[in-house]
Amino acid sequence: MVFYSEKVMDHFANPRNVGEIKDADGVGEIGNPVCGDMMIFYIKVKDNKVKDIKFKTFGCGAAIAVSSMISEMALGKTVDEVLKITNDDVAKALGGLPPNKLHCSNLGADALHKAVQDYKKIKIF
Ligand code: FES
Repeated sequence: MVFYSEKVMDHFANPRNVGEIKDADGVGEIGNPVCGDMMIFYIKVKDNKVKDIKFKTFGCGAAIAVSSMISEMALGKTVDEVLKITNDDVAKALGGLPPNKLHCSNLGADALHKAVQDYKKIKIF
């Protein structure tokens, strides 16, 4: 039996920032080859800060809660601060994840970081 914290249950039942940004400044997509789950993050950046963020997660409940929580953590932060958010930070903010669900938090941090890297690439060229 797997036990989830109240925060995980809340973010799973009422995920924040679900959706897509059509004219996103950065997009990051990650798939987990083991479970087949997938996550896409879209960010809009202004003055080097994340002004809008949306995600789509095709995955388990923990992955949905992770996406929702990390989207709230990233909103308003500079892109470099966002790159410093780790999977561990997200798991902690959610009040912990069961050990067999920790890999789901990797997916969130990786997809978000990829969206920031995509934004930085676009900005350079
Ligand atoms: Fe695949 Fe959670 S089981 S991300």
